[in-house]
Amino acid sequence: MTVKKCLFPVAGLGTRFLPVTKEIAKEMLPLVNRPIISYGVEEALASGCEEIIMITGRAKRSIENYFDRSFELEDLLLKRGKKELYDMMIKISNLAEILYIRQREPLGLGHAVLCGEPVCSSGYFGVILPDDVFINNDEPILSQLIKTHERLGGSVIALEQVELENVSRYGIVASEEVEPGIHRISDMVEKPSLSDAPSNYAIMGRYVLSPSIFPILREQQAGTGGEIQLTDALRTLAKSEPVWGVVYKGRRFDCGTQKGWLSANVQLALDDPELRNVVLEVVNGR
Ligand code: UTP
Repeated sequence: MTVKKCLFPVAGLGTRFLPVTKEIAKEMLPLVNRPIISYGVEEALASGCEEIIMITGRAKRSIENYFDRSFELEDLLLKRGKKELYDMMIKISNLAEILYIRQREPLGLGHAVLCGEPVCSSGYFGVILPDDVFINNDEPILSQLIKTHERLGGSVIALEQVELENVSRYGIVASEEVEPGIHRISDMVEKPSLSDAPSNYAIMGRYVLSPSIFPILREQQAGTGGEIQLTDALRTLAKSEPVWGVVYKGRRFDCGTQKGWLSANVQLALDDPELRNVVLEVVNGR
């Protein structure tokens, strides 16, 4: 029943970060000195996944290069006696088995997940949307979801209670809490207006999905924003198979937005004994 594969849809255009995302993959924006994507990959590995599948698009080659060997750089670092940096480079390229599949057109998150069907259809698989970065949490969020899947079976979605005025930014679920922090989901709607929202429990970027999602996605019509929405397919799935929601424990930074990305950088700097003073000096105007 366990989950060994993790899908990373990273083919989105990142329009909220234009102009920088005209040429730079959003997932490669730095959180201090590491790209956003590296946090998601480490979370998947720490949650027990062994195979990473990235759904990429144009302008995302830098992600592939980041996780690959860079012989020129490695050679140079060795020649200059920078062994620690050399070891760091080797470690990154040995992190995981990563497979890349191209989504030719950014038709939506649901369509990106469907692109993973050739490699993910044999069992339950994890999905990480790397924009959602979790810092300083005790247990990886995906691992919290996998444990629920191992205990209860079925698909699992990460949930967070959001302010009512923010419901229209997320997928929102209708659910019943069956035990503390665990919901049985009966329905869901992508980016509802406040009056249409069935609750304020919002879907966040971590999932454990049943392969039964693929035939549903194949038939899925475009929904909100003209995109093929994963939420719409999950809604259909929930009618025939259990879909659980886990109110995860951890602090999330939405690095797909400028505010969230900046907050994550400030938080990481505050956590670093050297960088902490830099932040405090700027804030205190010194
Ligand atoms: P977002 O809604 O954040 O879209 O996608 P985006 O294009 O990345 O960013 P904005 O909204 O234009 O600023 C959620 C996740 O789904 C992936 C994205 O890469 C992100 O991880 N995605 C979205 C795809 O892989 N393909 C798509 O067609 C759409």
